[in-house]
Amino acid sequence: MPMSESPLPTPRLSDLARVRGPDYLVGLNPEQRTAVEATEGPVLVLAGAGTGKTRVLTTRLAHILSTGKAKPWELLVVTFTNKAAREMRERITHIIGPEAEGLRWLGTFHSVAAQILRRHAELVGLKSNYTILDTDDQERLLKQVIEAEGIDHKRWTPKTLAGLIDHWKNRGWTPDKLPPAEGAQFANNKGQTLYRLYQDRLRVLNACDFGDLLLHNLTLFLTQPDVLAEFHRRFRYILVDEYQDTNVAQYLWLRLLGQAKQNVCCVGMMTSRSMAGGARRSIISSGSNGISRGRGSSDWNGIIVLPAHSGSSLRPDQRQQRPPGQDPLDGTDWGRKSHCPGGLGWRGREPPDRR
Ligand SMILES: Nc1ncnc2c1ncn2[C@@H]1O[C@H](COP(=O)(O)OP(=O)(O)OP(=O)(O)O)[C@@H](O)[C@H]1O
Ligand SMILES: [Mg+2]
Repeated sequence: MPMSESPLPTPRLSDLARVRGPDYLVGLNPEQRTAVEATEGPVLVLAGAGTGKTRVLTTRLAHILSTGKAKPWELLVVTFTNKAAREMRERITHIIGPEAEGLRWLGTFHSVAAQILRRHAELVGLKSNYTILDTDDQERLLKQVIEAEGIDHKRWTPKTLAGLIDHWKNRGWTPDKLPPAEGAQFANNKGQTLYRLYQDRLRVLNACDFGDLLLHNLTLFLTQPDVLAEFHRRFRYILVDEYQDTNVAQYLWLRLLGQAKQNVCCVGMMTSRSMAGGARRSIISSGSNGISRGRGSSDWNGIIVLPAHSGSSLRPDQRQQRPPGQDPLDGTDWGRKSHCPGGLGWRGREPPDRR
């Protein structure tokens, strides 16, 4: 038979896979695929509810692992609730199989922070077997502190003080960094003193409250550069779901952990309220349509932001047409809710430890 007439060899499945890409990439739209494959450097994905944000995160994770860029224990994956963490693990297991069991740093902000604190508790004045107080214990302890200072606990209740302290911790404020106006809110200017006494009592009891988990991590990272460097080496990639809900302490925590390699991928809902508090002010410096690179703030160099407009969907079946030039971010007063760090001995953008 002449050569020209010979039938073409049947393509092997592995060859097809090479052209088409691995199975887990199939079905992603271009924005999702960009976010999945841009593994090096910061990426922020902003889109509406149910539009495929978590899918970006789980697929990106599968991609990082299957391309051998990192081992499961070198990935930091944070979500907001234990339920979300469980679902995330299930979805990843579905894609990559039992290797997902090695994801030992997948959890909520608090559970990962607690794990970090166990290893280095001594450096913040605790022992590694510290206990975490529940709300009742916390209020009981605060009542003792309030009474010991001769303050009427019926007028100035432990519950109110617990709420204030939680707020302060979420802002990253240790007692010595508490802005005076904040301390003035409780028991005629006694807020700061009570906060300090409470923290002292917690240390004596070898205990933490919930807010301490992140706060002690921040203190640890800011005062122990070698410990921070250890985590920089460990966490090759950081992935964050529901990023719009991050508070200041969580944002600072992520920034400290991500600043060396900058391989941080955050996905979140694009709403004006949430972005004012979270990503918008800290991560993106200007509104952008579609994919942009190099327009990020100085925290995250060369950040890729996509798609960056409210209500946008990553799913082709949900796409809405947006009139050109109508970016819902335009004209929003992003400055109203300050997201500036300032509670831990430094202000502005650069933390004291070096990149
Ligand atoms: N490109 C796509 N094409 C078709 N379906 C998709 C695509 N991306 C995601 N989906 C599906 O859409 C549903 C929602 O996806 P996902 O949970 O990732 O969205 P989400 O934005 O994280 O949602 P939420 O706002 O609830 O967190 C899932 O069933 C997912 O499989
Ligand atoms: Mg989701």
